[in-house]
Amino acid sequence: MTSLPAFIADCRSRAAQCEHAAIAVEAIAPIMHRFMREAEQLLKPEHFRADPDHYARNAVYIAPEQDLSLFALVWTPGQWTPIHDHGSWGVVGVLRGTLYERSYVRMDRETGDVGIDLKPGGVFLLDPGTITSFVPNPDHIHRTGVPADAQPVVSLHLYGRNMDSFHIYDLDSRSRRRVNVAHNES
Ligand SMILES: [Fe+2]
Repeated sequence: MTSLPAFIADCRSRAAQCEHAAIAVEAIAPIMHRFMREAEQLLKPEHFRADPDHYARNAVYIAPEQDLSLFALVWTPGQWTPIHDHGSWGVVGVLRGTLYERSYVRMDRETGDVGIDLKPGGVFLLDPGTITSFVPNPDHIHRTGVPADAQPVVSLHLYGRNMDSFHIYDLDSRSRRRVNVAHNES
C-alpha cells in the first residue's frame, strides 16, 4: 500500500517532468487510478466532511508553490457546481457513488468573458474507480454534481494549480466571471 504523502509526491514529480498539460494528465491518471483502490484507508476523516448547503471542498494538499492542489469533494444528493472551467489541467477520480458530469462546448471559439455561445454537450455518469481528466486551452467547461434521488458521492480532484477560483458561466447573459471558491482546511 502506498501512503498519502507518497502519492502526492509522485503526482508532483510527474507533473514537474511534463511540459504539457496533456502529457501531465496522461502520466498522472494511472497513479490516481491505483490510488483510488486504497483511498478509503489513506484519506482522513476530515476529508469526508459534507455540507448541507453546497458540495464540500476538503483540501487534502495545496502545494506551497501553488502549482498543484488535491481536494476531496463530498456531494450530498441534489448538490451541483455551476457551469465552470478550471484554467488548469485536472485529474478526477470517483471514490463513492456516481458523479454526474454535463459537458458544454463553447461554439464562438473566442476566449473573452462576454458573447459566449455555449451549447450543452454529453453527459457522463462516473462510477467508483473511474478516472477522468481535462486540459485547458480551449477551456474544459462543465457542470458536475449528483441528482436529488441518487446516492452521496465522494470524488478526488487533482489540479495543476491551487484551485481557489474559477470561471462560472451564465447561459442567459452569455457571459462568464471569475469567482473565488472556498474550501475546508485539513
Ligand atoms: Fe470542474
